[in-house]
Amino acid sequence: MAKRRGREPLGDGEKRALNKNNLKKLLGIFRFVLPYRALFIAGMICLFFSSTILLSFPYLAGKLIDIASGRSWVLDSINTVTLLLLGVLLAQSIFSFLRVYFFARVTERSMADVRMSVFGKILLLPLKFFDHRRVGELVSRITSDVSMLQDTFSVTLAELFRQAATLIIGTALIFYTTPRLTLFMLLTFPVLVISALIFGRYIRKLSKETQDKLANANIIVEETLQAVNVVKAFTNELFERSRYMGALKEVVDIALRTATYRGAFISFIIFVLFGGIVAVMWYGATLVSEQSITVGDLLSFVLYTTFIGGSIAGLGDVYGQLQRAIGASERLLEILEEKAEGETTEDSTVNLNGDIVFDNVSFAYPGRKTVSVLKSLSLNVRAGEKVALVGPSGAGKSTIIQLIMRYYSDYEGIITVDGVPLGEYDLMAYRKNVGIVPQEVILFGGTIQQNIAYGKPGASEEEITDAAKRANALTFIEQFPDGMDTIVGERGIKLSGGQRQRIAIARAILKNPSILILDEATSSLDAESESLVQEALNELMKNRTTIIIAHRLATIRKADRIFVIREGEIVEAGTHEELSGQYDGLYNHLLKLQFQLA
Ligand SMILES: Nc1ncnc2c1ncn2[C@@H]1O[C@H](COP(=O)(O)OP(=O)(O)O)[C@@H](O)[C@H]1O
Ligand SMILES: [Mg+2]
Repeated sequence: MAKRRGREPLGDGEKRALNKNNLKKLLGIFRFVLPYRALFIAGMICLFFSSTILLSFPYLAGKLIDIASGRSWVLDSINTVTLLLLGVLLAQSIFSFLRVYFFARVTERSMADVRMSVFGKILLLPLKFFDHRRVGELVSRITSDVSMLQDTFSVTLAELFRQAATLIIGTALIFYTTPRLTLFMLLTFPVLVISALIFGRYIRKLSKETQDKLANANIIVEETLQAVNVVKAFTNELFERSRYMGALKEVVDIALRTATYRGAFISFIIFVLFGGIVAVMWYGATLVSEQSITVGDLLSFVLYTTFIGGSIAGLGDVYGQLQRAIGASERLLEILEEKAEGETTEDSTVNLNGDIVFDNVSFAYPGRKTVSVLKSLSLNVRAGEKVALVGPSGAGKSTIIQLIMRYYSDYEGIITVDGVPLGEYDLMAYRKNVGIVPQEVILFGGTIQQNIAYGKPGASEEEITDAAKRANALTFIEQFPDGMDTIVGERGIKLSGGQRQRIAIARAILKNPSILILDEATSSLDAESESLVQEALNELMKNRTTIIIAHRLATIRKADRIFVIREGEIVEAGTHEELSGQYDGLYNHLLKLQFQLA
């Protein structure tokens, strides 16, 4: 009976039903804790003892006063009871320490596992997943959402347990020792509970809004800084400032509103609580003067009530924290449950010849379903052939490449390589056969050597040097004081476009793919580096199926065949000689445009 009453202030009547699914989500993340369950259980046991042992404190304190005023108890010396009190404190300190220690070991490791899983999963997701998500958002999944869970599994869970135990056991104890006084006190509970529920729900909503607004503001900072040169070029510093200021203002407004309610909530609870205590003290004093209870009983009652009151106030916060943790686990599970882009069995390999066929392929990007980018497009590239794709910007050339790379798989029609539909190859084994040199080469932070080795992890130093040499890159690399060990990327030196391009070529040479793709590889280069890069590309293209996309038609003159693409369709195909002979053709038109520009 007493216990049931004690549980009520948790106030989970309808909420529990509402949260059943949500708690499952938290449990879904909890599976990461399971490998460390022994430690976790040890922590729970310590938590149990540290929370319950302290509850004997008010009881013993009351007895101490009673003994002092001449009443007898099992122990009847003030010193023994005081020693017992100290013993209680000591035991609870030891258990508290162990609890923190065990929980830290569990949560640090399991949350690292969560981070690893989420990162690993994100890496395996198809590109369409990234098309509609910002990098900053994904980063905060791995950083702040996981941190939130870590707090939950260590601090919040402990708090929840401690406060619930205080509430239940404390109430049971005072109900046993001073039933009339307890009943009187319980009358003040409904006011507290109902207001805690109402306030709590509202505050939770506001906190979520605050978080969202803050995330928005952070995204502005991130995006602006990532493209700071663009901002400066357009002299949009003021614009970005005011954009950020606007976002910050929203954060501050809503955070202040939250703080107001939270403050009002806390002070209201404190007022009601102490108001209740005054009433209870009055009734208790009356009972003492009637000699219905002892002074010691009253003291332990008051101490318990303070404990219980504190735990009720704390439960509101814990509850909000749990809600947020559920939000975080929901977002993490969402990523973990996403479908990876393809089954991959480790170490399966396939050696392709590079015979590519597109048969009536139609495609629209998942993000823009209504615009068909490729329209019943058919083309074939024989193994070892050098083929060029030309056409106006936006015609769909890069899209063809994306499909060959298997970045997107939901197209209509059939694409085969060596006669086998793409989907039947193991994804990673397949991609090991495809090399790409893009227009914008991204170098990772690290040395030049590491960046070249990215094409073949574990490549020997000779292999790397040889690849650099064949890519026309060794000469400029050796001009750096640190040579191959020169740091590039965000924190290192900046390489020119042509230099980066040649590093990408060295990477591709190391990778040694049977299908090579050059997507505007030389388009942004000046004439001098273009010739150096072109030389390197010629070396790279030897003995491989190669698909070249280029704006400068001079670079594709030597291609075996040229496909001219317009609005997702092939409108002309043939050699340079054949196509330039068609005077009213698109190729001829593009050719003329270039000569006019030149
Ligand atoms: N990730 C994407 N999501 C939606 N649309 C895209 C995406 N990438 C390209 N497109 C659109 O597809 C069309 C073809 O683009 P693309 O193949 O890059 O052209 P090209 O390389 O020939 O210049 C363009 O209209 C472009 O806006
Ligand atoms: Mg393109």
